[in-house]
Amino acid sequence: MTSPRVTPAFVAAYLKEIGVEFVPSVSAEVARVIDERRRGGTRETIVPSTKTTPSTAGALPAETATSGSGLDALRVETLACRRCPLREGAKQVVFGVGNSHARLMFIGEGPGADEDDQGEPFVGAAGKRLNTWIPRLGLARQDVYIANIVKCRPPDNRAPVPEEAGVCVPWLIRQIEIIRPEAICLLGATALRFLLGGEPKITRERGQWREYKGIPVLPTYHPAYILRDPRREDEVFQDMETLKGRLDGR
Ligand code: URA
Repeated sequence: MTSPRVTPAFVAAYLKEIGVEFVPSVSAEVARVIDERRRGGTRETIVPSTKTTPSTAGALPAETATSGSGLDALRVETLACRRCPLREGAKQVVFGVGNSHARLMFIGEGPGADEDDQGEPFVGAAGKRLNTWIPRLGLARQDVYIANIVKCRPPDNRAPVPEEAGVCVPWLIRQIEIIRPEAICLLGATALRFLLGGEPKITRERGQWREYKGIPVLPTYHPAYILRDPRREDEVFQDMETLKGRLDGR
């Protein structure tokens, strides 16, 4: 394996060129992504962030569907985000993981300690539980895409507040726009609240199809909740069956 050939000065110039205006520091992850893209020779123009707000109206425009490199470009921008105070208390921005052409996207609440350490969503105890649900869909973890409402760990694993979700969800919306999954599974009340709005009760709304910009959305319980109350896992299994039915065209 060859080591990255980019220097911090190169990275700073590159980010300026593609429209990232404020980059307080360049992490090893940012340097790695840029280096990969230079080697692949597929550098494309990154459109600077447009303000997008959650909305349930209207289908996503087809031209927003792009390849994994669109997601890589968004990752570079997101990793440089300092829009809210959560970043100060977190070790890193946890962008998302999985297949850029995933048919199904899972959305959780926010990174916990393990995710903050490893830079990947759902790698701790809740993630291990989620990993046991995905095969029920006839899929593997690497087939789906996994992201969170907020990309930086809230202190003491508390739920994000509306101000934090409000500045972070536009990143998630752009991930959804790039991936354009056939279905989204929302994990828990916080994901439901901040993607679709309202003050939902997950016990009432799980298993009921909703819609986000033309994409079918199924809320279910958060795996951390199931770890605390495993008797409710049968309802999750029903929801996985419902999702599978949709993906299988049933
Ligand atoms: N809980 C979440 O909501 N997201 C994670 O990434 C991990 C735990």
